[in-house]
Amino acid sequence: MTAEALRARVAPLDVERIRKDFPVLEQEVHGKPLVYLDSAATSQKPRAVIDAIARYYLEDNANVHRGVHLLSERATHAYEAAREKVRRFIHAAHAHEIVFVRGTTEAINLVAQTYGRTRVRPGDENLITVMEHHSNIVPWQMLCEEKGATLRVAPMDDDGQLILDELERLIGPRTKLVALGHVSNALGTIHPVRRIVEMAHRRKVPVLLDGAQAVPHLAVDVQALGCDFYAFSGHKLFGPTGIGVLYGRSELLEEMPPWQGGGDMISSVTFEKTTYNKLPYKFEAGTPDIAGAIGLGAAIDYVSRLGLEAIAAHEHELLVHATEALRQLPGLRLVGTAKEKASVLSFLFGDVHPHDIGTILDREGIAVRTGHHCAQPLMQRLGVAATARASLAFYNRREDVDALVAGLHKVREVFG
Ligand SMILES: Cc1ncc(COP(=O)(O)O)c(C=O)c1O
Repeated sequence: MTAEALRARVAPLDVERIRKDFPVLEQEVHGKPLVYLDSAATSQKPRAVIDAIARYYLEDNANVHRGVHLLSERATHAYEAAREKVRRFIHAAHAHEIVFVRGTTEAINLVAQTYGRTRVRPGDENLITVMEHHSNIVPWQMLCEEKGATLRVAPMDDDGQLILDELERLIGPRTKLVALGHVSNALGTIHPVRRIVEMAHRRKVPVLLDGAQAVPHLAVDVQALGCDFYAFSGHKLFGPTGIGVLYGRSELLEEMPPWQGGGDMISSVTFEKTTYNKLPYKFEAGTPDIAGAIGLGAAIDYVSRLGLEAIAAHEHELLVHATEALRQLPGLRLVGTAKEKASVLSFLFGDVHPHDIGTILDREGIAVRTGHHCAQPLMQRLGVAATARASLAFYNRREDVDALVAGLHKVREVFG
């Protein structure tokens, strides 16, 4: 569905009311109202999330899956209810396909260290793309080094779109896994992941999708996408830090050995032999981030109440406005101009170093990210050392974009 069709279908968000749910947005920074345009790095948290975490610690705090006492039962119930919320949110077939981890990084490392280590042999290949975040590069590089395998990299065009023919050609008889982002953190490109999954599956190659930048913006249905693994972080989805999700198809998770050993991941232990717990506990060694999971569940409730269609429509409107406004600024170059984009705007501004752009904007109360965005190989492909990046969420308004443009005029005044 096009963004225009979406907008026609859903009621617009009441952003002023929504902003009242985010206490952190109410403050001033350097004497100016905060304009938070760094949600791709981490999103702000609604009061409902903060309250859910506080309530857990105030009323229910106990360890999960262990005690017979009431508090432990309540904590276990809340933790497992959060897993069910995640299952519904990404439309996984089973709750046991949802593994709680620390974040996207840990989810990808888990797959590399279990699935990867048992499947990849010398001479094999893993395929990623040039747009990956370091967390979807380095774990595969480490695996390939250990196994004598090769990391292949699918290229992109100058707009920041994957060149699908070339990507398809790189999936060969030795490819063991394709791993790519759903949405690029540095450029905002939304990749045609369903088509890519089909390409890989035709050759019987499983696909891992890094959904860190997708879940805050798009409705994700892992069964419709057909992917084998899907990873995301709670803190980019308006939930707390320290919690994330690895979704894996049951058949694959069943076959994979555990990663970390310890409490909860076992079924029985003797000094001679340990047998492992069933899914998903086999992959959740030790006391998990119970409060984090509960907070993530509350974030999912919050986002679901707003509706991802309404969020996508609002953000698309903001993206169009921001793109037009930034293009009016002489000397400003947008980096990442794909047809399908989430609300992320990377840019360069004349000769001004992105770090200086970020510093001057900060003095105006405007928070943007500057640097390589944990995507150094992408920066090399683009021929730049760094960019400035404004990333928008549903709590942003047109005024925030206009403040960014005014801030950039200040940057130009300072740097002539
Ligand atoms: C596309 C993408 N993948 C992975 C990550 C890593 O996420 P985390 O640091 O929460 O593990 C990020 C974080 O910026 C990201 O944007």
